[in-house]
Amino acid sequence: MFFPAYRPRRLRRNASLRRMIRETALSANDFIYPMFSAHGHNLRREIPSMPGIFQQSIEHLLEEAREVQDLGIPAVMLFGLPERKDAEGSDAYAGDGIIQRTVATLKSALPELTVITDVCLCEYTDHGHCGVIENGDVDNDASVALLAASALSHVRAGADMVAPSDMMDGRVAAIRETLDANDFSHIPIMSYAVKYASGFYGPFREAAGSAPRFGDRRSYQMDPANRREALREATLDVQECADLLMVKPAMAYLDILRDLRDRLDLPLAAYNVSGEYAMLKAAAANGWIDHDRVMLELLTGIKRAGADLIISYHAKEAVRLLQTG
Ligand code: PBG
Repeated sequence: MFFPAYRPRRLRRNASLRRMIRETALSANDFIYPMFSAHGHNLRREIPSMPGIFQQSIEHLLEEAREVQDLGIPAVMLFGLPERKDAEGSDAYAGDGIIQRTVATLKSALPELTVITDVCLCEYTDHGHCGVIENGDVDNDASVALLAASALSHVRAGADMVAPSDMMDGRVAAIRETLDANDFSHIPIMSYAVKYASGFYGPFREAAGSAPRFGDRRSYQMDPANRREALREATLDVQECADLLMVKPAMAYLDILRDLRDRLDLPLAAYNVSGEYAMLKAAAANGWIDHDRVMLELLTGIKRAGADLIISYHAKEAVRLLQTG
């Protein structure tokens, strides 16, 4: 098969041929839409660095979740903004915490929408770390107990799936054990198995009010330079009975997605995080880049790299675009 007898351009000659040989197709089923739930009434506050994304009170969140469902997107992922924060992040596992109430409202109004909750303490602790502090650092095992309690309270409120994002060691096993001991053996865990200590979370921390008050997250989130370690982290979570694995962020970690896709057989999600979203919005606002085209190119790249699911703030606009062509 050599030129001039073989010519790859033959199959690129028109749109119909290109459609026939297209290897990766995005669909509404691929997406999970992240949402921020806040206290109050009639609150809908746009996050400055994330145009189109809002902190909103439950009734507005419900309205948007309905829109998500009507677009055919199967799931939302919820983050909570508590009224009060404390050292132990108690609103994270309070029966009437912000997430618990949001989940209950969503599930009673939209029973068919899959509601996934982010399980972490950073939005709920006054110091902003993802666990409790002991001697100036995050104490792993004490944090795991609180994370398991959070997961259980989310599921009791009606969550269909929990997604621990804290990066403590052993938390998937602890959550699995707690759920199973409480008759929730049917609830899957999507583990943020490979989560890097990334500058791309900046806008999210503004949205969730979760920036650490001292230090950073490098003693629990992964070093962006490490590839083999990603496989080790993911393998541990498989052993701890995670049902789905996640890589986060997405764009700068496509090799990691491909590694995990090739070596492990669990469904794989990628988190197209806040900073990735903000970069595209900012460049587009300056007229420097074709927003819709680049958005679909990025999302296609994430799927092509191996993601079965993409958690993305672009989910609604991407699906709308796919539907209108
Ligand atoms: C909570 C959490 C974070 C994100 C998701 N869950 C922030 C962090 O780890 O600092 C980031 C999501 C995004 O940037 O869109 N631990």
